[in-house]
Amino acid sequence: MTNKNTEHSKIILGIESSCDETAAAIVQKLGNGVKILSNIVASSADLQAKYGGVVPEQAAREQLKSIIPVIKEAIHQSQLTIHDIDAIAVTQGPGLIGSLLVGVEAAKVLSLIWNKPLVPVNHLVGHFYANWIEDPGNGISSKYYGGKVNKNTLNTKYIFPVPTFPAIGLLVSGGHTDLILMKDHGVYEYLGGTRDDAAGEAFDKTARLLGLPYPGGPVIAKLAEQGNPKAFDLPRPMIHSGDFDFSFSGLKTAISQIVALNRDEIDKQAGSKFIKDLAASIQEAIVDVLVKKTVGAAQTHNIDQIVVAGGVAANQTLSEFLARAVLSVTPHIKLSIPSPKFCTDNAVYIATAAIFNYHPTENPLTIQANPNLSLAR
Ligand code: KG4
Ligand code: ZN
Repeated sequence: MTNKNTEHSKIILGIESSCDETAAAIVQKLGNGVKILSNIVASSADLQAKYGGVVPEQAAREQLKSIIPVIKEAIHQSQLTIHDIDAIAVTQGPGLIGSLLVGVEAAKVLSLIWNKPLVPVNHLVGHFYANWIEDPGNGISSKYYGGKVNKNTLNTKYIFPVPTFPAIGLLVSGGHTDLILMKDHGVYEYLGGTRDDAAGEAFDKTARLLGLPYPGGPVIAKLAEQGNPKAFDLPRPMIHSGDFDFSFSGLKTAISQIVALNRDEIDKQAGSKFIKDLAASIQEAIVDVLVKKTVGAAQTHNIDQIVVAGGVAANQTLSEFLARAVLSVTPHIKLSIPSPKFCTDNAVYIATAAIFNYHPTENPLTIQANPNLSLAR
């Protein structure tokens, strides 16, 4: 994919509805990044948690309920009028078809009646653009590990350095785990990805085996804070495979065997040391593989910038281990990880992706939701 038209100082309304979040946001280009003018996210995650995961039809119904109020609120919060908005960006895929259709069809209608260009965005590419957001809370969004790293420096306020190209991009979300070589905005090469479960899925599925609520990632991360990550010797599938592919389904099998052998312990003692140790061991097994492959990709391709994105990028142990690995192996590598609040699904990064990859479709009505879009080509 090539992209000559990389930078536009526009105001863009982004719409995201790929799964169980309905989101709308307005952003404006600021320097090498973007400024957030509004950011609204409505989530049906609580409802999904009741069922232990996302129920596609229910997620789509919730999207329908939320889409108009969320867009309205995003415009209201920005204090702009429709006339100030230059274009609309919308997640085209991948995701759940029922959910995607709600956002895509709403965006098409608005594009038509407001007479605004419509930019379709690949949700997976969009995730990476969380690294180009200026965070009004602390003046930055991306954490930049230029110095000594310890628990405290993880919260240090760094200046706002947007990532530079070429970069190694690690996407770790609920449905995807991919490594790409980003040569420029919109120009990337696929290096590898998961052959079965995604990293987020590994968190969610092992959490479910332990009787923990959905989504499992944040719950496991919380329990892991008090657990011993060396307590269980869990598999690190494909860690030494020498390529950039991943496999996490073996972890699920290992945990189901441990659960079967320790049923009483797990049923009787929610929040026990046993569960905390297991959670810490699961988290470290996943993080070890992600870190090894990502730093390996940077070394193999001689790249000095790593960009991390996706819901699992909110995991503090992943940030910490990546930062340590980078510093110990190749200290010149810069690491960019978004603020946790921009790692999970939102419309700010969708609008931001459109700012840097401004390709409106000639006829907005031709845009079709595509649940199977990927980063691989
Ligand atoms: O990117 P995302 O919000 O949605 C998708 O596009 O898939 O990612 C959701 C995934 C879930 O699997 C969730 O368990 C995981 O991100 N996640 C985390 C954390 N926060 C969210 N995984 C590990 N640690 C976290 N703190
Ligand atoms: Zn996502």
